[in-house]
Amino acid sequence: MQREHAQLIQQALEVLEKNWTGTFTRPGVLLYPHQWSWDSAFIAIGYAHCNQARAEQELRTLFEGQWSNGLLPHILFDPQATGYFPSFAFWEVERSPFAPRQRQTSGIVQPPVHATALLHIYRHARDQVQARAFLAEMFPRLRAWHLYLHRERDPRNEGLVFIRHPWESLDNSPIWDTILRRMELRPEEIPAYTRVDTQSVHPEYRPTDAEYDRYAYLVKFFAACDYDEARIYSSCPFLVQDVLFNSLYCQGNRDLAEIARILGEDPTPFEEWAEQTAAAMNRKLWNEERGLYLDVDLATGQHIASSTSASFLPLFAGIPDGPRATRMYDYLNSPAFCQLAETTYAVPSYDRQSPAFQPDRYWRGPVWININWLLYHGLRRYDRHEYAQRIRQSVLDLVQKHGFYEYYNPLSGEGHGTPRFSWTAALLLDLLSD
Ligand code: DGY
Repeated sequence: MQREHAQLIQQALEVLEKNWTGTFTRPGVLLYPHQWSWDSAFIAIGYAHCNQARAEQELRTLFEGQWSNGLLPHILFDPQATGYFPSFAFWEVERSPFAPRQRQTSGIVQPPVHATALLHIYRHARDQVQARAFLAEMFPRLRAWHLYLHRERDPRNEGLVFIRHPWESLDNSPIWDTILRRMELRPEEIPAYTRVDTQSVHPEYRPTDAEYDRYAYLVKFFAACDYDEARIYSSCPFLVQDVLFNSLYCQGNRDLAEIARILGEDPTPFEEWAEQTAAAMNRKLWNEERGLYLDVDLATGQHIASSTSASFLPLFAGIPDGPRATRMYDYLNSPAFCQLAETTYAVPSYDRQSPAFQPDRYWRGPVWININWLLYHGLRRYDRHEYAQRIRQSVLDLVQKHGFYEYYNPLSGEGHGTPRFSWTAALLLDLLSD
């Protein structure tokens, strides 16, 4: 890593050290006291450069929460920690025959970036023998996780997996507004609950109560279905084929195929799934008029006309061809997101020209470091090096001037959500190692 950034590196390591519990890393002390799935994958990517053993431990602990049907839960609860809603009890996952009995988990998932993280750890490992042993240890678990997605989340074998809760992708992104509004809940359908997040973070920077009612409703809906995926699929009011999730699933399968090759296992199923997903995204999620990929609402079969920074993530998985990538790039490099010559921070999470853009509210406008890290790599894959460097510099400036926040106002750079946020620190370490 570069010497001129020695102080920044030191601070990033301190953030991770503060959030390390001995077996996993909390995303942030203020809002997130348990282990989160995609947070841990991004955190492991950062550890890979400085602490191989901890990178491995992070993923090993996470997979202790895996269900016997392969589902990798979005939260593995720390039974000692309090101060988070929804708590373990609220999920009622014991209604599923597949949920682990010894560990406390939620009953939804997060984007499958774990195979990508695992391969990254292997590629940066100092101890190659240990790294290969870790690949072999994790391979069956990763295979079960991807098999779960293939089997349960793509029941028509389209190549596209669906999400069934906004927390499986971008929480309160405007993408879901129409669907959530359609879910008209009678007062007696709204479960009793108390939010904890808005006690420590300004409510204007977090999702609204109306959104939380629907998040909580969906959790109780899954419990009422006993977490039976077929029952959920047949009547869940929120079912979306999401660009972000499918992009990471596609790249995850490419990376799992590579892991299989390293181990002398059969890479074919993962290669085929990756190609099937890429083809299906090009066929079904590409919107020719807008020049980018859009989510599909499975209730209507229509594209959701909302463009977010995640709409560009097919670049990360090498999905668009050259002409499509150029159209996407032109949209990214426009007043809707962030032009190369501008002085604002790249890249806001939502289209700035849309009336729904809110620069301070969670996933409705702020800059997030994980999406920018994915975009950085996606743009490099398509030789858009100048823009990739622009993103890298934005991340460095944000952290240097404003601290290791969860998300940032793209205009002022002000940090919001929890301070000392782990994936911000971890991905900064990775960007500095490049
Ligand atoms: C939260 O609590 O805001 C998370 O994003 C959901 O897991």
